[in-house]
Amino acid sequence: MKSEKKILSVLDGNVDFPPPFWMMRQAGRYLPEYRKLRATSPDFLKFCFTPELATEVTLQPIRRFGMDAAIIFSDILVIPYALGIEVSFQPGEGPVLTAIRDHKAIPVFQREILRKILMPVTHALKAVKNQLSGTTALIGFCGAPWTVACYMVEGGSSRDFTQTREWAYRKPEEFSLLIDVIVDASVEYLDMQIEAGAEVIQLFDSWAGVLPPEEFSQWVIAPTRKIVQALRSRHPHIPIMGFPKGAGILYKDYAQQTEIDAVSIDMYVPLAWAKKNLSPHVTVQGNLDPTLLAADEKKAVAETKKIIAMFQETPFIFNLGHGILPHTPVEHVAAVCETLHNIR
Ligand code: CP3
Repeated sequence: MKSEKKILSVLDGNVDFPPPFWMMRQAGRYLPEYRKLRATSPDFLKFCFTPELATEVTLQPIRRFGMDAAIIFSDILVIPYALGIEVSFQPGEGPVLTAIRDHKAIPVFQREILRKILMPVTHALKAVKNQLSGTTALIGFCGAPWTVACYMVEGGSSRDFTQTREWAYRKPEEFSLLIDVIVDASVEYLDMQIEAGAEVIQLFDSWAGVLPPEEFSQWVIAPTRKIVQALRSRHPHIPIMGFPKGAGILYKDYAQQTEIDAVSIDMYVPLAWAKKNLSPHVTVQGNLDPTLLAADEKKAVAETKKIIAMFQETPFIFNLGHGILPHTPVEHVAAVCETLHNIR
């Protein structure tokens, strides 16, 4: 049976045209109504953990643009925080965490503590679900273990995550203890989100692209598959999407080996390659370059048409190749959304 929610239908293997769409980071600083609300709450994590605020900013882009899915407003770094790591967001600097550099500093997964800290996110999910129309799906998410580990080991953002990669090479048994803790915490957190009403899950592996093939298999594919299998045994009908950004041709192994339902492609993946190599295995999602969206409305609309034409005969979700940039003009986003609503 076809779901009334277009995203759930294509995740079930049906083809739809125009395809359903949403945009990574669709709630955020490019929206004046977001900036206004965010200014009332300088502590970003507190903002994420205040259900009324998280609910409102989750719904803002849906009201304006009518995306086919709302993604709950939170962050991938709530997992380290819920594991007891200090996390703060400095304006202009990005996240700052207490860095973990050896096995003694690896936190312990304590189920009840984690549930208590992350409970506000479930309240926001319930409130959003109550306010969504019957055609808009609700996406829950978390960071994938490799990417979350990168932030935990470096203590913040980094150009190439050298400390993390060196630890993984030097002491893989130790590093895998950290990955296992993140896997357990993520399964628990995603389970909470599904119980609260999330209908689709997305795993963000933003730094999957810094790993060579063998390490990609070990630190991206294997932990992702563990999460997929654990969630599927608890919630067999909840589709799971993954975004291993920068994976290049390893996207194919990811699509075939993680048992995931959909794969989000970044803007570096050629469309014809994705159609040939990924579409036979999964629903593909992607991949308008967020820089083009910010730079040129007409070209962004033309590229949007090209992308959806390429995937007209296969299950597809339109999205960006990475998150919306904060300086993106709202009118550019509106023009792309209009195109997706009106094309025939
Ligand atoms: O609309 C949505 O997509 C939902 C909300 C969402 C946020 N972060 C809100 C946020 C989602 C899905 C994320 C995911 C996330 N967070 C990722 C994976 C996706 C990606 O972009 O690669 C990563 C790596 C993070 C970690 C993170 N959070 C960083 C590096 C930063 C600082 C850089 C930045 O963009 O400011 C954040 C902060 C953050 N998360 C903001 C938002 C809206 C900006 C905070 C602010 O309002 O000042």
